[in-house]
Amino acid sequence: MSLSSDELKQAVAKAAVRELTPGMRLGVGTGSTVDFFIDALGESSLAVRLAVSSSVRSEQRLRAHGIQVVSLNAVSEPLDLYVDGADEIDGSGFMTKGGGAALTREKIVASASKAFLCIVDDSKQVKTLGRFPIPIEVIEMAIEPVSRALLAMGGQVRLREGVLTDNGHPILDVHGLVIDDPRAWEDRLNALPGVVTNGIFARQGAAKALVSTQQGVRSISFG
Ligand code: 5RP
Repeated sequence: MSLSSDELKQAVAKAAVRELTPGMRLGVGTGSTVDFFIDALGESSLAVRLAVSSSVRSEQRLRAHGIQVVSLNAVSEPLDLYVDGADEIDGSGFMTKGGGAALTREKIVASASKAFLCIVDDSKQVKTLGRFPIPIEVIEMAIEPVSRALLAMGGQVRLREGVLTDNGHPILDVHGLVIDDPRAWEDRLNALPGVVTNGIFARQGAAKALVSTQQGVRSISFG
């Protein structure tokens, strides 16, 4: 019998806890896979020193497990590890993120960490990013000009209805872009006035991925 999507996520979440060492200062991402990771961490005997969360959702879950959550500004050195899921990951550890609307805080916490451990199931592995629409958190007054610029770049833009991020901003989902050079695309999208953050994680790529498959969890390290 094959494992369900949730069972695959649970397996990779438990594998991620096995990567941790006691006393770590952890950055924690957001999403359904991370929810399983937080539960697995809370149920394990491993004690982390503290966690910095990328969302209100993850913060509440961490606290419910009695894990100490502090503000990023209370931490004076890089966090030991950032653990998060992704919407897509390619063969270089570049990712698309933001399906759960937490991309800005995720990118901030990832950038303040020594390494990014990505936890996914194998449905998230792609050759080229862009099959999943690229989320873009944008200042509300810039929705129109940013959408026009994205259209001129070859994308089709949809406002994510009824969603505001934890920072109070809307999200545009951009379909149809082929992200052939993730670093260049990340910079290009960031350069549009009004863009807060885009969901391409190339500058903050994964150092390592744990990939859940029907045959078990595979580990991939990126140079
Ligand atoms: C949230 C994210 C998530 O990591 C991404 O959407 C994957 O989520 P899930 O683990 O639920 O598939 O980037 O902003």
